[in-house]
Amino acid sequence: MRQKIVAGNWKMNTLIEEGAALAKNIADRINEVPSDVQLILAPPFTHLDRVNGIIKGTAAALSAQNCADKDKGAYTGEVSAAMLASTGCKYVILGHSERREYYHETSATLNDKMALALANGLKPIFCVGEKLEEREAGRHFEVVGAQIREVIFNLSPEQLAQVVIAYEPVWAIGTGKTATSAQAQEIHAFIRKTLAEKYGALSEEISILYGGSCKPSNARELFAQKDIDGGLIGGASLKADDFIAIAQSY
Ligand code: PGA
Repeated sequence: MRQKIVAGNWKMNTLIEEGAALAKNIADRINEVPSDVQLILAPPFTHLDRVNGIIKGTAAALSAQNCADKDKGAYTGEVSAAMLASTGCKYVILGHSERREYYHETSATLNDKMALALANGLKPIFCVGEKLEEREAGRHFEVVGAQIREVIFNLSPEQLAQVVIAYEPVWAIGTGKTATSAQAQEIHAFIRKTLAEKYGALSEEISILYGGSCKPSNARELFAQKDIDGGLIGGASLKADDFIAIAQSY
C-alpha cells in the first residue's frame, strides 16, 4: 500500500503570525482528515520552528521548501539539510519548477541536495514537470523522463524508498488550469514505469503526488486515479478549509 499524502506548499506567503494561525487551524482540525492520509505542511524557513511547535504531537508532518546543496560553512544565506532536520522537518521539497526556473537549479545541483537531504534523514519531495511549450510540442514524456533519470536514477533502492515524487505540469501551477485526471494519470503511470525500469517492484511503493491548481473541486477525481497518491497543494493550502477539504477527497 502506498502512502497517501496531501502536502501544502505555502511558498513565500504568510507573515509568521499568519502562518502560525494557519498551522493552528489545521492542527485543531486534524481529526477531520482520514487517518491514512499523511498531511504535510511546508511553510517558509522562518516559520519552521514555530510551526513545528504547533503541529508536534499531531499527525501532521513538517517540510521545508528547499535546502542548500552544500553541507555547511561559508555559504551566506543558505539553509542546510541538517539545520532543517534540527527544526523538526521530516520532508523537504526539492526541484520545484519555481526553483528550477527562477533560481536556475539543475539536475546537478539537485543531485547534491537530494544526497544531503537523505543523509540528514529528510524525505525529499522531488518535483518534476514539463512547461507548456514542451507539452504542446509533445515532449512531456521526454522531459519528465530526463528529470527522473538525471536525479532519481542516482539513488540506491534504499534511498528511493524515502522519496516522494510530485508531478507538477508547470502550465498548471498557480494558473487555475489543472491537468485533466486522464492527462495526470497518463504521466504518473509513465513515471512509475520509468522507475520500474531501474527499481522493479519498488516502483509500486513510491507515492507520486499531483500538483498544479489542485483544489477541493477537482481533488476527488484526481486522487481517484490509479497512480495518483495525493497532492502537492500551493494556493489552496493557504486556506485551512480548502486544504482540509482536499485531504478529505480520498
Ligand atoms: P498551485 O501550486 O496549487 O498554487 O498551483 C502547486 C505547487 O506549485 O506546488
